[in-house]
Amino acid sequence: MSDIATIILAAGKGTRMKSERAKVLQEVCGLPLVAYPLGLAATLRSKSTVVVVGHQREAVEQTVNRFKGKQSVEFAHQREQLGTGHAVMTGMKPLKSHEGPVFILSGDVPLLRKRTLNQLKKAYEKKGGPLAFVTFTTPEPGGYGRVIRSENNSPVAIREFRDCSESEKKICEVNAGIYLIDAGFLRRATRNLKSDNAQGEFYLTDLIEMAAATHDVATVDAPMAEVSGANDRFDLVMVEHTLRQEIRSKWLAAGVSIQSPETVHIDTDCKIGSDTWIGAAAHLQGSTTVGKGCIIEPGAIIRDSQIADNVVIKAYSVLENAKVDSDATVGPMGRLRPGSHLKKGAHVGNWVELKNTVLGEGSKANHLTYLGDGEIGKGVNIGAGCIFCNYDGFLKHKTIIEDNVFVGSDSQMVAPVIIRKGAYVATGTTVTGEVPANAMAISRGRQINRNGLALKIRKRLKEAKKELQKKRGTESGTKK
Ligand code: UD1
Ligand code: MG
Repeated sequence: MSDIATIILAAGKGTRMKSERAKVLQEVCGLPLVAYPLGLAATLRSKSTVVVVGHQREAVEQTVNRFKGKQSVEFAHQREQLGTGHAVMTGMKPLKSHEGPVFILSGDVPLLRKRTLNQLKKAYEKKGGPLAFVTFTTPEPGGYGRVIRSENNSPVAIREFRDCSESEKKICEVNAGIYLIDAGFLRRATRNLKSDNAQGEFYLTDLIEMAAATHDVATVDAPMAEVSGANDRFDLVMVEHTLRQEIRSKWLAAGVSIQSPETVHIDTDCKIGSDTWIGAAAHLQGSTTVGKGCIIEPGAIIRDSQIADNVVIKAYSVLENAKVDSDATVGPMGRLRPGSHLKKGAHVGNWVELKNTVLGEGSKANHLTYLGDGEIGKGVNIGAGCIFCNYDGFLKHKTIIEDNVFVGSDSQMVAPVIIRKGAYVATGTTVTGEVPANAMAISRGRQINRNGLALKIRKRLKEAKKELQKKRGTESGTKK
């Protein structure tokens, strides 16, 4: 077969989504809808890929450029959304010199498999073109275009729901909106399209009748769950449900254990090593990668982060744009915000928050602590309740803690500040200046004990309380 081109239709508004966002930008398993046909086009090794854009053109183009990978993509601007036929006509403009078949994919059918497109190609080749399309069968054909077949069962037309007669509405075989069409035929036929139908649009589906007049049109029947697409929020939920199941099955087959799989969310672009265990209701989002032999406890949410091997992320921790090296531990209820980097064997415990901070090899911050804009060396211990005071209301400042420093509980580092190697910060210290290597810094007031004073204080307070209660009692009595 000659070279193949691909047109992805992505100009529509998606009115049924009732959203400010164009339909192809709605997300499924962490990726915008349009990323899915783009990924498919890349695996098809399509010679040219054209995306037809219109509604929210700039945002759609930006998203396409972000997700197109290595393939080169051209955009065709459909100024007015006059229908799928008009969209394809617009999409053919950058393909002026293309001869041979063109895949036409919808921007809103994310579960479409390469296997089905290969079948479509085979069916097209068998009939010698010029048109093959994908159908599916459903007891509830709703608003889909109905496939009209002749007595000998060849497809002769697609009738859009709104143009169907009552008996045609009962047809359960419908058009999935995925086609392979010869470029020459496409150019000639789209020029002859008319918009004299219920929606006043130029329907791509009218091409089936035109092709069937002189040729045998080929069809491929695909599973509904794969090709039915996403037109409204209900469809989005269904599509996401199916895709989540597929993603989990893929990782289970690759040696990942998943507890209560139906509750675990793993986005399309995540990667997970074998022998990793993922607890119930954990979410791996965006481009997160998790290494081998890790434990991701229940309820952890990890977005766009890199987790190396043998890491434990304990329950309900939240990570975003973070890097965790091997053998490190986070949580429970740890929070790693963007720019956090835990080096090998580092520990971050409960209610500890890091932002833009490197925690060195084997270093620990185990309880109730905020470490922002910090650089912490190896073997450092940060006690409970420590704070890097990194913000003065205008600028962010850095705290540097060198190797083997001990920071006692309830200490504050008022940045910019540096604590040199091996220094010891006593509990309850407010560090405002440099601490030299191996020095001890202490800034709290000295403790004084007054023997017996506690008894006197208690007696005084007890009497004062009694006096007050008596006074209140007389006041309320006089009111009566
Ligand atoms: C279309 C088919 C219908 C089929 C269904 C399958 C037509 C006339 N109808 O209907 O037979 O059963 O898909 O899902 O083709 N688009 C543009 N420009 C336009 C109009 C649409 O780029 O002017 C794009 C949309 O962004 C979308 C795709 O084309 O990605 C399909 O459009 P949509 O409005 O969803 O068509 P359906 O009504 O679903
Ligand atoms: Mg549609």
